[in-house]
Amino acid sequence: MKKELEQLRDDFLGALESAGDSLGLEELRVEYLGRKGKLANVMKKLPDLAEDMRKEAGQFGNEIKKVLETAFLEAQHTVNQFEERTRRDAEWIDITMPGIAPLMGSLHLVTQAIDEISTILHQLGFVRSRTPEVDWDWYAFESLNMPKDHAARDEWETFFIQDPKADKVLEGKKGKVVLTPHTSNSQVRELEKGQLPIRMFNINKCYRRQSDVSHVPMFHQFEGLLIDKNVTITELKGVFDFFVKNFFGAERKVRLRPHHFRFTEPSFELDISCDICGGSGKLESGACRLCKEGWLELGGAGMVHPNVIKAGGLDPEVYSGFAFGWGVERTLMMRSGMNIADMRIIYRNDLRFLKQF
Ligand code: PHE
Repeated sequence: MKKELEQLRDDFLGALESAGDSLGLEELRVEYLGRKGKLANVMKKLPDLAEDMRKEAGQFGNEIKKVLETAFLEAQHTVNQFEERTRRDAEWIDITMPGIAPLMGSLHLVTQAIDEISTILHQLGFVRSRTPEVDWDWYAFESLNMPKDHAARDEWETFFIQDPKADKVLEGKKGKVVLTPHTSNSQVRELEKGQLPIRMFNINKCYRRQSDVSHVPMFHQFEGLLIDKNVTITELKGVFDFFVKNFFGAERKVRLRPHHFRFTEPSFELDISCDICGGSGKLESGACRLCKEGWLELGGAGMVHPNVIKAGGLDPEVYSGFAFGWGVERTLMMRSGMNIADMRIIYRNDLRFLKQF
């Protein structure tokens, strides 16, 4: 039995060395020192011994037990200390390290452009007015001198609103319901208010069934409308010139090019000089690829058609004026140094792109 106890002690001391962590230690304690552990098992044999040997064996057993317990407590102490230190190391914070800056939000570049455009137009005395994004056909087309089924409407690639109760487009007294394909629906809505003279602008979302490098299905336009007595094209040119010099820079030039819209007469397309080739249309390497002979197309404009003025309830013999409408995204892309090759990136929510503005 003495041998057995000595073997047990040596096994235990050996096992303690490789116990690892406090969980391993606890398992060892149960295995050797527990109520049904190895030591108790050996000691169970005590009553079977001859009486003269029993006392000595009992004492030896107790000594061994003490040795084991002391060795266990020591090992436990060491492991505890080690575990405590590891935990503290893991929690330790270097307060001299630079911090992690919180992500800062900023206005989307289109919102920034809308703010800038508004500021410039405010300086000219234009007041921002709001019109619905979901509007009647009457305001989007018909009152703008585009009768039902007129071919000119095709240009606007319009989305219609479905009647949720029937398998057709929602329709009312003022025609079908559309997602506004341009901001020109604000023209007749403003005329109807009858507060003259009118100097308003409207910036809104517009929708068209188009998506490619220079079109997104949801975009923004801004529309200007000036109605008074004796308004002339010269004033339109003046507004255009002021806007371009303020938004794009003093060196940019403007021109009006004849065009056709049903709701203006005469109609123009507004061009601005290209900043890549400086308006010459030529680069050292050949023709400028961005523009057409030195000019970039910015938007449409014209003198408001008499039929539109009539549709708004005013007398075209007395009142006249001009309107213009441009895409915000397009205007933004034409700014020097913007270098946006694909309009769709503006709405892809890619922070690598958005953070640059
Ligand atoms: N609404 C026209 C378009 O979307 C632009 C325009 C506005 C033209 C006002 C003339 C006058 O293309």
